Amino acid sequence: MKLDENVLQIFNSDWALVTAGDKNKFNAMTIGWGGLGTLWSKPVATVYVKPCRYTHEFLERSEYFTVSFYDGKYKKVLGLLGTKSGRDCDKVAESGLTPRFLPNGVTFDEAYVTLVCRKIYRQDMDLNAIPQFAVDRYYLNEAPHTMYVGEVTQVIR
Ligand SMILES: Cc1cc2nc3c(=O)[nH]c(=O)nc-3n(C[C@H](O)[C@H](O)[C@H](O)COP(=O)(O)O)c2cc1C
Repeated sequence: MKLDENVLQIFNSDWALVTAGDKNKFNAMTIGWGGLGTLWSKPVATVYVKPCRYTHEFLERSEYFTVSFYDGKYKKVLGLLGTKSGRDCDKVAESGLTPRFLPNGVTFDEAYVTLVCRKIYRQDMDLNAIPQFAVDRYYLNEAPHTMYVGEVTQVIR
């Protein structure tokens, strides 16, 4: 196995969806930041979600979340899910994506890969520990992101 440097760009360039909730109620939003790695000897995916996002409520309540990746032709759909809030409209219906309900979590049929994640750690970022350039750019008006680390329990292709 050799490190492919594309993995460092996967979130920032291709984006992904983080989805939390269940078949009764769920929400999905676009993420451009995230990480794949290892924690406590477990394979993990890490996402960073601001408390003001509607999805944050679902992440707080859910034991599981999914991180799903899409081909370039879905970029516009991801743009929509990253600009509208599920609080204000049924953006998932608007997106045209097909929800797929898993034993643990929700994803979409159109994803080329979904990571099913069991939440094993969450922490609100500490404003005092964030470098000034990031405070100025991202946190002048909104509280810092919450970091969620999920153990990847299943990879669905
Ligand atoms: C390309 C892109 C990347 C984004 N990345 C993140 C992210 O990593 N974390 C975050 O909190 N918001 C991110 N956002 C913003 C949310 O996706 C956006 O606020 C969304 O409308 C929240 O939806 P919700 O209120 O239904 O949860 C991103 C938006 C876009 C368009």
